[in-house]
Amino acid sequence: MPRALADLLTLPIVQAPMAGGVSTPELAAAVCEAGALGFLAGGYRAPDALRADIERLRGLTDRPFGVNLFLPQWQTADPAAVEAYARGLAGESARYGTATGDPYGPVDDAYDAKLALLLADPVPVVSFHFGVPEPEVLDALRRAGTVTLVTATTAEEARAVERAGAAAVIAQGIEAGGHQGTHRDDPARDRAGLGLLALLAQVTESVDLPVVAAGGIMRGAQIAAVLAAGASAAQLGTAFLATPESGAPDPHKRALTDPGFPHTEPTRAFTGRPARALVNRFLREHGADAPAAYPAVHHLTAPLRRVAAGTGDTQGMALWAGQGHRLARALPAGRLVEVLAAELRAATTELADGGGAG
Ligand SMILES: Cc1cc2nc3c(=O)[nH]c(=O)nc-3n(C[C@H](O)[C@H](O)[C@H](O)COP(=O)(O)O)c2cc1C
Repeated sequence: MPRALADLLTLPIVQAPMAGGVSTPELAAAVCEAGALGFLAGGYRAPDALRADIERLRGLTDRPFGVNLFLPQWQTADPAAVEAYARGLAGESARYGTATGDPYGPVDDAYDAKLALLLADPVPVVSFHFGVPEPEVLDALRRAGTVTLVTATTAEEARAVERAGAAAVIAQGIEAGGHQGTHRDDPARDRAGLGLLALLAQVTESVDLPVVAAGGIMRGAQIAAVLAAGASAAQLGTAFLATPESGAPDPHKRALTDPGFPHTEPTRAFTGRPARALVNRFLREHGADAPAAYPAVHHLTAPLRRVAAGTGDTQGMALWAGQGHRLARALPAGRLVEVLAAELRAATTELADGGGAG
């Protein structure tokens, strides 16, 4: 009997998968042990490394967890725009003492191999970012006993997720840290991103699937708000990025609450797809010129970002963060889940008692 998302959630809290080394097995395990749903990030991860992460996580907890995959990106980028952007990064190469990467690196993120791994050795939950998997893929995972989730950033995308046969949809608002999971990167939509509450109402009225709400959620009262607006659970990324179990570099964690980084912006500067990051020098100097060319720009800037991160240079790193970053708490992940759950209970009681009007 295929399971439903609700069967797997003790608390309506999901720790967002965060690629690039942030979502460690230790983070996911601490979250799962505290009663929320922990996630591993399969994006950018080699299949063998993902397999090892899953084994390690299984060794740390018996509770259900999820694995996230990026859909392959076949969207063609304009080679002239990629070349022009590469030329504009010459100063960065000089600054960091390294060449830019080959923009024509892999576009499929070893999706087929990672999918084969998850079908051969199923995990409780698999979520997808950057598109909708084939209905056959979602069906095969369902038959393997896996609950499937797919990110949507509009009601139309949510309907596509439902048509394909996913078990649930993640409604990701424009507040969210990291990449927007839009199914197709369209620069014409750059100013059309929906805030989470506006999106959530449209998605819940468009599909019959359970909805997980993501974007800017840092406190239990905000979880209560999205549950009141029809979500089945809330997915939090930036809140967990600050925990000691997260694999984010310490300068990235500290920057979340550093007054020197007062705000975030969605930018293509680092990867070629819109992703929300703290505004730093690299974003300011290159954001306006960055083409819609994912993963070409990701490959181009990877060596620069590696050196910047290695030297703790926050002005050259991709400091992914959601709009709620100032509210980040550097609590152990399990403790953070407890605090969020207590805040959620308090807010729910307050609402039931009539809130401020009571
Ligand atoms: C550092 C970072 C990395 C992320 N990587 C992924 C990822 O690999 N897969 C994914 O589906 N979402 C990813 N996201 C987006 C989250 O799933 C989620 O939408 C977002 O964190 C919610 O907004 P918040 O950060 O304000 O909580 C990432 C977010 C951050 C902050």
